[in-house]
Amino acid sequence: MSKPFYITTPIYYVNDRPHIGHTYTTVLADVIARFHRMMGEDVAFLTGTDEHGQKVEKAAAARGITPKALADEVVANYTELWKQMDMTHFRFIRTTDEDHRKVVQARFQQLLDSGDIYKSTYKGLYSVSDEAFVTEMQAKELQAQGLGHQLVELEEETYNFRLSKYEQPLLEYFAAHPEFVQPDFRFNEVKRFVEGGLQDLSISRTSINWGIPVPVDGKHVIYVWFDALLNYLTGAPEGAWPPDLQLVGKDILRFHAVYWPAFLMAMGLELPKTILAHGWWLMGDDKMSKSKGNVVRPDTLLKFGNDALRFYFMRDMQVGHDRSFSFEGFMDRLNADLANGLGNLAARSIAMIQKYREGVVSGMPDPAGEAGGLDESDKKIIAWQKSTFDNARAFAAENNFHGSLSVIWDLIRSLDSYIVEASPWVLAKREREDPQAHEKLDVVLQLLYQSLHNISILVAPVMPAMAQTLWESLGQTGRVDEPGRFAGGLPRIKTPVQVGEPKPLFIRIDKEAEMKAIEEAASAPIEAVSTPLDVPELRPIIDYDTFAQTDLRVGQILTAEAVPKSKKLIKMTVDLGFEQRTILGGIATGYSPEELIGRKVVVVANLAPRALMGIESHGMLLAASDNASKPYLIAPPEDAKPGFIVK
Ligand code: MSP
Repeated sequence: MSKPFYITTPIYYVNDRPHIGHTYTTVLADVIARFHRMMGEDVAFLTGTDEHGQKVEKAAAARGITPKALADEVVANYTELWKQMDMTHFRFIRTTDEDHRKVVQARFQQLLDSGDIYKSTYKGLYSVSDEAFVTEMQAKELQAQGLGHQLVELEEETYNFRLSKYEQPLLEYFAAHPEFVQPDFRFNEVKRFVEGGLQDLSISRTSINWGIPVPVDGKHVIYVWFDALLNYLTGAPEGAWPPDLQLVGKDILRFHAVYWPAFLMAMGLELPKTILAHGWWLMGDDKMSKSKGNVVRPDTLLKFGNDALRFYFMRDMQVGHDRSFSFEGFMDRLNADLANGLGNLAARSIAMIQKYREGVVSGMPDPAGEAGGLDESDKKIIAWQKSTFDNARAFAAENNFHGSLSVIWDLIRSLDSYIVEASPWVLAKREREDPQAHEKLDVVLQLLYQSLHNISILVAPVMPAMAQTLWESLGQTGRVDEPGRFAGGLPRIKTPVQVGEPKPLFIRIDKEAEMKAIEEAASAPIEAVSTPLDVPELRPIIDYDTFAQTDLRVGQILTAEAVPKSKKLIKMTVDLGFEQRTILGGIATGYSPEELIGRKVVVVANLAPRALMGIESHGMLLAASDNASKPYLIAPPEDAKPGFIVK
């Protein structure tokens, strides 16, 4: 059997639900996978989640659940979404899967044995608040920011990968394989990075627990990228290696185009054929991020249909470039191209076939356009159909669905003009007396039928359900996306053929109503608390200077333990960026010590120390309260760093 076309997406972190960025990558992979199946290839499409590391460990601790339980929750969001979107991956791989752990450990051991991984000590500056080793240069930048990043000299035992050894082999490989990274301008960035010199790479940590242990050295866990990248190896079906196409966002290209091939060279494995880096969906000019509150979730767009969202992604984004998302642009695109463009053309054409020929298309014009009865405009459409089929397929083969859909929609527009020019309704009136009009009407209806038939095939990888509806409306049976359907040239259509009931392909979006609903939702007053709380009276007014004497800072709880014999007190170590402090909080009625670890809090940092139950507390955490017993800790946004001033 021939090697399957093996395509992968990055595996997604489990610290957030999927947004349209993740959805886009997976849709792109699915569209490419479907296209290759229609080209007659066997396809293996892999996606999944990246679940280890400190962030997940901490987020889980803050909620008092295990990291695996947290991952399970987020994974369910992904798998349900992919099901709803009819994704055709053969496996959803999780880095917590047992077979993956075995592969990672075995490969680690292999490289340890061959000397490409060696034990060493990492000595350098460590930023306590960023939880990362930093270079001299980064340290200077952090200090210049003046945010009180506490930097300490730290020595940690670590396993290193001999990345430096692969600098030359990588450059040679790049030179010999111009298709290895796409687009070209990204490949150039990668080359420049490697030419700048590669240092060995630390690939284990002793400070993290949530990860795959280093074989025979349990105090180390394997650092996430070695673990994460190897998912592509674990998930490869028998006989599928190497990957034909690996999709990544531009932000993770370096890991895939430098570290990953170096790992594979060290393992003696063949390298992927192409790494394709796509750009980002932006909001305005901004990155989408949870803390900015500008993240678009797929559920809000899916109410207009799965195929509509897939179409929008493929039509509007040029692979490789960034693109701004706007809800208005989204609706305009769908109304123009799906409701007016394709939907309208299909509805009109099928209705005319029903009306003028009782739903039967009796023959097809000679594809060469040589036989009599064809005028220049008919011949143009025949030629245009052929070039559209060839070009759309060629673009798709280059993963350029933006280009592919553009040429298909050019054809749709020219068919609209062709209808206006031929005016079938005029021909229909004349055809009883005029055999030429009768013949011309036959040709017009046949050409429209033929075009729609071909378009339904061409759009099937992008819009599988809509293409199938159109296919059936045209009276065709079986699957429009049958394997191999794209393999030959323009398909032959058997006639006579009876068209089916025209089903609407896409319901026009009422843009005004949708925009109004969005604006109303954004400006809706927050509902007043229904029963007024029994709140204490306001304290006397103070002036700003009095308030400004209070130094409030962002802190992060590093350790927390109950104070023996106290029902309320918890003793914590809190990182303030510039120092760590012991702080006691009367919050045990609302929080367990485990769920406090990792949490970011607001600290009154210049409060005089005070001893409670024999322990000195150096500050206080801000909490809201209902005046009864339960405290609600005030939480700064996730990306605020310890030491930030609160004012
Ligand atoms: N876990 C790593 C990948 C490991 S692969 C061995 C990771 N995960 S991620 O969840 O943060 O990102 C996954 C992918 O989503 C990346 O390719 C990233 O580029 C992509 N996107 C995240 N935000 C995006 C947009 N706004 N737009 C398009 N893609 C974006 O990185």
